[in-house]
Order: sequence, then C-alpha cells, then structure tokens
Amino acid sequence: MFYRYIDIEMQLCLLTKDNAPALYELTTRNRAYLRQWLPWVDGIQKPGDTDYFIGACLKRFATGEQMTCGILYQNQLVGVAGFNRYNYSTGTAYIGYWLSRDKSGRGIMTRAVKELEQIAFNEKGMNKIEIHCAVENTRSRRIPLRLGYKEEGQIRGAENLYGRRVNHVIYGLLKEEYLQR
Ligand SMILES: CC(C)(COP(=O)(O)OP(=O)(O)OC[C@H]1O[C@@H](n2cnc3c(N)ncnc32)[C@H](O)[C@@H]1OP(=O)(O)O)[C@@H](O)C(=O)NCCC(=O)NCCS
Repeated sequence: MFYRYIDIEMQLCLLTKDNAPALYELTTRNRAYLRQWLPWVDGIQKPGDTDYFIGACLKRFATGEQMTCGILYQNQLVGVAGFNRYNYSTGTAYIGYWLSRDKSGRGIMTRAVKELEQIAFNEKGMNKIEIHCAVENTRSRRIPLRLGYKEEGQIRGAENLYGRRVNHVIYGLLKEEYLQR
C-alpha cells in the first residue's frame, strides 16, 4: 500500500475502502465549506457514494491515471491530496486537494503538496506540476504562490460550481524550478 511519512504529525496514504467511513463523515461534516469550491460534493449523498469514489480512484491508480491520497494528521483522516491526472506526453502532473475546515491554517496542505512534488519529479519522472484554482479561491491560490509556482494564465468558464461559473488561474512548476528552489 502506498504510504508516505511526511513528519511526526502528518502522513499521506493511498485511499482504500478502509478509509470510506471516515472519508464520508469528513465530507458530510464539511459539506457547505467544500461546496464553495468543489463540484463533486452534491454527488456524495450516502456512504456508498464515497465507497464507489474510492473504488474508482483505486482502479485509476492501478492503471497509472491518477493517485488519490488521504492526509493523516495526528492519526486522523483530515483531507485528500493527490494527482487528479497525469499527461504522460507532456510529463505534467495535476495536483488537487481539500482539507477539513477545522484543520486549515496549519500548513498541512503546503506540506502535502511538497511531498507530492517529490513524488512527481523524483519518482514519477514528471517534468511539470500544475495546480488549477478558482480565481476567487485565495486560500488555495496561496499554496502554489508560497511554493514558488508561476502564474501561467487563466481559463474562463473553467468550472460550473452548482450554477456559478468560475474562471481558473493556472499555476505551474517546472522540474528545473523545483530543483533550483
Ligand atoms: C485551500 C486549502 C486546501 C488550504 O489548506 P491549508 O492547510 O490551510 O493551507 P496551507 O498549507 O497553505 O496553510 C497555510 C496557513 O498555515 C500557516 N502555517 C502554519 N504552519 C505552516 C507551515 N509549516 N508551512 C506553511 N504554512 C504554515 C500559514 O501561515 C497559513 O496561515 P494563513 O492561512 O492564516 O495565512 C483549504 O482551505 C481547503 O481545503 N479549502 C476548501 C477546498 C478547496 O478550496 N480546495 C482547493 C480547490 S482548487
């Protein structure tokens, strides 16, 4: 099973069916908070929906299409981070993340993203990481900015958040920039 020790209080682990009850509870507890920025929240209505989601992620992990990890903080599941997809032709990995509201503001996601960078560049042989954030999602945008990603532009009408169409800002980090950082 994929497991990464980040530091004494934080680890990343591939989500498996064992995590389904805790992930469902976390999603339900943070529903209103996550709904501001994530389009899939209303699709999770019963525990089986989370179970199905994890099963689909595991299949796509096995085929090398994505990697979806749980974030363990003080031995509790507090969020999700990983590669939503890879483009093997360009060597680009696309990071996505979310965290329980009560655990934000502690640098948890910045630490998780740094670990994902190591995996992408040093283990998966990727050449670039992209993070796409809604323009108004300032907390999310602060993560790539803090880590020295370059703003590459915007995609208009990139996402439909329950009828609210938002533009995305794209942040990118090349391997050479990662090595210089
Ligand atoms: C966006 C989101 C992931 C940010 O999570 P987070 O853990 O708070 O983000 P960070 O890791 O950047 O934490 C930064 C904060 O921790 C503080 N911090 C403490 N220790 C730190 C450390 N070691 N390293 C970095 N920051 C640290 C920073 O000062 C900063 O505080 P501030 O928010 O008051 O400025 C979270 O708010 C979230 O899940 N939002 C809803 C879903 C969402 O928007 N997902 C992204 C869609 S693109």
